[in-house]
Amino acid sequence: MAYERPLISDLHAYAPGEQPADMSRVIKLNTNENPYPPAPEVMAAIHQVSADALRRYPSPSAAGFRGAAAALHGVHADQIIATNGGDELLRMLIQVFAEPGGVIGLSEPTYTLYAVLAASHGAGIAKVERGPGFELPADLAQKWNAAGARIGFVVNPHAPTGRFETPETLARVAREFQGVLVVDEAYVDFAPDSCLSLVRGLAALPNVILLRSMSKGYGLAGLRFGYGIGPSALVAAMHKVRDSYNCDALSQAAATAALQAQAYYLPLHGRVRAERDRLAGALRQRGWKVPDSHTNFILAEPPVDGNFSAFELYGALKLRRILVRYFKYPRLDDKLRITIGTPEQDDRLLAEIDDIVSGSTGAFQPFPSPHTDSRADLRALPGTNPPHPPKLP
Ligand SMILES: Cc1ncc(COP(=O)(O)O)c(C=O)c1O
Repeated sequence: MAYERPLISDLHAYAPGEQPADMSRVIKLNTNENPYPPAPEVMAAIHQVSADALRRYPSPSAAGFRGAAAALHGVHADQIIATNGGDELLRMLIQVFAEPGGVIGLSEPTYTLYAVLAASHGAGIAKVERGPGFELPADLAQKWNAAGARIGFVVNPHAPTGRFETPETLARVAREFQGVLVVDEAYVDFAPDSCLSLVRGLAALPNVILLRSMSKGYGLAGLRFGYGIGPSALVAAMHKVRDSYNCDALSQAAATAALQAQAYYLPLHGRVRAERDRLAGALRQRGWKVPDSHTNFILAEPPVDGNFSAFELYGALKLRRILVRYFKYPRLDDKLRITIGTPEQDDRLLAEIDDIVSGSTGAFQPFPSPHTDSRADLRALPGTNPPHPPKLP
């Protein structure tokens, strides 16, 4: 007998990218982490947290962090809510703005967690397909309205394609939509612009909330820290459902220091962007289709006349200890999503692709140091899943 609610029994959990137990033995280009470490100021802030600060509860609303975020973005601290990763913000948004039994709006393909969170809340989905170039359809808001959606999610820049829609486009969607528009800006640090103008100053819209994550641009995926920026009335509603102390003292200190270390991070974002364009160019030279990306990953399609499908390349790269992401979804199953690594990691990726495609069975030298495992052993990297596509939620 199942004790959990039927809704939970039927739920297909979100399938994150593989996280091998021994990271030193793989080149990990599958979960859009930053290849560079966080700012030294972040590590210093963590070290400076006193035993006494750990003995006490932290600021319930992460007041220090909210002040730093407000100063950085030119908004009021009441417009910021800090969360345990952007994912917690998503959960809270659905809890606050979607009725159980109601509908949330998505534009497909998109971050698959939205649908899992909607299902766990007992909400349905109004799915609107993106256009041939993965652009937002002009009638997105109308379709969401017709389905009765009270909240809709747009990732911008888009995951998993890297496409960027202008703030003007998102403003139009927000004006036409009768619910709350969440612009998920998890990858905004690698984009040419943001939607801050939609939540700031006199031109702010009453129904737009931005999601920000410290995981990608700030190299802090392990910290689990994200935040929302929106109208103070909507943010106040969200504070009502926040766990009393949802962000711990260490993460508050680290995330605050990170936001204040822009002098470290801005050039780092530039490096990742330059490397992204180099990797995209190198794959295009090899006959791959790679649309322009405005994130820290690319969605790359191997040549159709090549000997290897995207899925076969995913498996072959995994055997060589290079993890990229393969999605068995319509419009994505002929492509690989590749996180931008360091130039050395990306060169290694390119060399391994060339080696696989040329059919060479030459001796593979693992990264970063030689080892003696057999190919069969490589199939079962400790802590990783077998080389099959992630489950569909
Ligand atoms: C589109 C998108 N939104 C939100 C998140 C949440 O990020 P985090 O919970 O690490 O802040 C992710 C993480 O991969 C993402 O890809």
